[in-house]
Amino acid sequence: MSATEMNSCQGSSARHVVHRSRFRLTFGLLAINLCLSSCSNAPSVLEPRGPAAAQLAQLWWVLFTIATIVFVIVLALLGYGLFRSRRQAGNGGIGNGRWFVGIGGALIPALVLVGVMVYTVGIQSVLSTPADPALTIQLIGHQWWWEVYYPDQSFTTANEVHIPVGQPILFKLTSADVIHSFWVPQLQAKMDLLPGQTNTTWLTADQPGVYLAECAEYCGLQHAHMRLLIVAEAQERVDAWVANEKKAAVTVPTDPVLVQGQQIFFGSACVYCHTIRGTVASGQIGPDLTHIASRRTLGSGMFENNTGYLSGWIVNAQALKPGNKMPPMYLNADSLHALVAYLQSLQ
Ligand code: CUA
Repeated sequence: MSATEMNSCQGSSARHVVHRSRFRLTFGLLAINLCLSSCSNAPSVLEPRGPAAAQLAQLWWVLFTIATIVFVIVLALLGYGLFRSRRQAGNGGIGNGRWFVGIGGALIPALVLVGVMVYTVGIQSVLSTPADPALTIQLIGHQWWWEVYYPDQSFTTANEVHIPVGQPILFKLTSADVIHSFWVPQLQAKMDLLPGQTNTTWLTADQPGVYLAECAEYCGLQHAHMRLLIVAEAQERVDAWVANEKKAAVTVPTDPVLVQGQQIFFGSACVYCHTIRGTVASGQIGPDLTHIASRRTLGSGMFENNTGYLSGWIVNAQALKPGNKMPPMYLNADSLHALVAYLQSLQ
């Protein structure tokens, strides 16, 4: 090999090393960035705000501690095996090999696993239903939104529930299409919504706040955009919210713009899919819109409920949430303005 060939060979291997370390650096930074960005918004199971979630968080810490101890012991043994001198190896290593394998490889793991199983089965009691829930809420999963029904107060809404803080709430879960799963990371364990069957779960929120619930069972294209808000607040505020939700909408508005908006609603495809109680609109395919303006989000927790997103959603919901059942609407600016104004009057 000539000197030039050797130089170019060393040069290329040096370039490889530089490339590899750059790749590692980029990959490492990307991983840290992904972790930090996901950590910032997502509700964490390690920040429980209710008794059921607190038990699950405790289970997580117990399992994490046991796993860490086992990991450290195994690494120590591996290090011992790798770095002990040959003379020690010739003597047969740690004590009598068979005893060591029997105790360290079978007995101790069996005790740990049985212990963990007993503890985990004990935690399953968090899924059992309290005898006397303060409130019952029925959730019906749809691709990709949550129908909400309060059976004792007998009204329907969507994608947002309000519950009194500090009280056990019973949830009855079912699905209108495929399997979904109800999960509030900070409040309770996951429970599936199955078509043709009613499952139950319960939760208590110890502190007031807005908790994010997510669908935890892959259910199609927009599975990641199937969110529900759990608003935990004082009993008086829940009572006021329930009283408002139970009311029907105004049958005939007085404002001429709202009258125009309502006529556009009745005269277009909206009326076939949505219900506005108190009016002729009684469609069952999409969310109930009787109090759409009082909800915090649009598209099942995807967007803030404001004029911009509401207009965009009406004109072309497919661009915002591809695959959902809402077709595009062809409206001129004047009609869109009136329709949005009417929907925003539905407080
Ligand atoms: Cu519904 Cu995933």
